Amino acid sequence: MTGGSVMQYRRLGKTGFTVSEIGFGAWGIGGGYWIGARDADSLAALHAAIDAGVNFIDTALAYGRGQSESLVGQAVRARSERIYVATKIPPLTQHWPALPGDRVQDLFPASHLIKSTEQSLRNLNLDCIDLQQLHVWRDEWLQDKSWLQTLLRLKADGKVRAIGVSLNDHEPDSALKVVTSGVIDAVQIIYNIFDQSPAQALLPACIRHDVGVLARCPFDEGGLTGAITPETTFPAGDWRNDYFKGDRKAQVVAHVNPLKSCLGFEARTLPELSLRFCLAHPAVSTVIPGMRTQAHVRANTVVSDGRRLSDALLATLGRHAWPRNFYD
Ligand SMILES: NC(=O)c1ccc[n+]([C@@H]2O[C@H](COP(=O)([O-])OP(=O)(O)OC[C@H]3O[C@@H](n4cnc5c(N)ncnc54)[C@H](OP(=O)(O)O)[C@@H]3O)[C@@H](O)[C@H]2O)c1
Repeated sequence: MTGGSVMQYRRLGKTGFTVSEIGFGAWGIGGGYWIGARDADSLAALHAAIDAGVNFIDTALAYGRGQSESLVGQAVRARSERIYVATKIPPLTQHWPALPGDRVQDLFPASHLIKSTEQSLRNLNLDCIDLQQLHVWRDEWLQDKSWLQTLLRLKADGKVRAIGVSLNDHEPDSALKVVTSGVIDAVQIIYNIFDQSPAQALLPACIRHDVGVLARCPFDEGGLTGAITPETTFPAGDWRNDYFKGDRKAQVVAHVNPLKSCLGFEARTLPELSLRFCLAHPAVSTVIPGMRTQAHVRANTVVSDGRRLSDALLATLGRHAWPRNFYD
């Protein structure tokens, strides 16, 4: 860690891992649906993050078909610090999100769980995955424990240290049963100023059952940074053309502009406000912003300094929620 870093650390549930409040979201560096990542910049961003005290990286087999894992492994292997690596097993169908009626034996059969884990280990070139997650989840799947037995076998074989699930966008209650069942170590959820819904039931349940929480998309894919305007364009093939389609960019501006009145001595910029919002909840173990540049890494990592937003500002932010569901 370089001088001057103030990174704070939290427990990741009962895993025994002590993880940095700011983790590294490694979707964007994989390329694929995020156009424009250059490997040299991505590696520099990963190293800058580790220099600043980041010790938790979230990737997935699906991110750039293994390219994100490969870059993450390259960075981690080059360092002496203990860096925790989380990855994810894609549904065999390659369809997101998991829909009502989807059967766990079709999306996550044992052979697929084993094959995907072996492939991730090869991409990462590491001996063990710290946190292996199912990339989609439905609570109905608790009735069929074959997925759990396979993940526990991978754990017993030393290929995986902890297990978790990543939830459908804006459906935090879709994991209430698995959280209370005690069979998983961590959940990954969208939690940001626009989608505060996890605070109603899921986050309190995670505290009660000591389940670690990875807060993803703290910037709502960039919207909450203030960088999206009606004039913003994305390269052809970039998935954000879909996320910010129609009049969504204008809607984002209409929701972000009023937020600017919340800036001040507690948070000077929208990215800072967004990260501090996530960190204010005690259930959150780590926030995992996507960041592909050293400048973004610097801006995001300094936010972890132990200072919490005031209750008054948090109450005000509560009125800036913008409820949506996956299909909006
Ligand atoms: N289903 C799932 O399991 C799932 C789904 C989505 C995401 N995730 C995980 O969550 C992570 C985070 O989500 P995300 O990357 O999709 O979205 P995000 O973190 O909400 O936003 C990422 C965007 O914010 C920009 N950014 C980062 N820091 C900034 C700063 N300080 N100032 C201005 N802009 C900044 C990034 O730009 P640059 O890229 O140019 O730095 C990128 O465009 C992913 O990387 C992935 O690990 C998981």
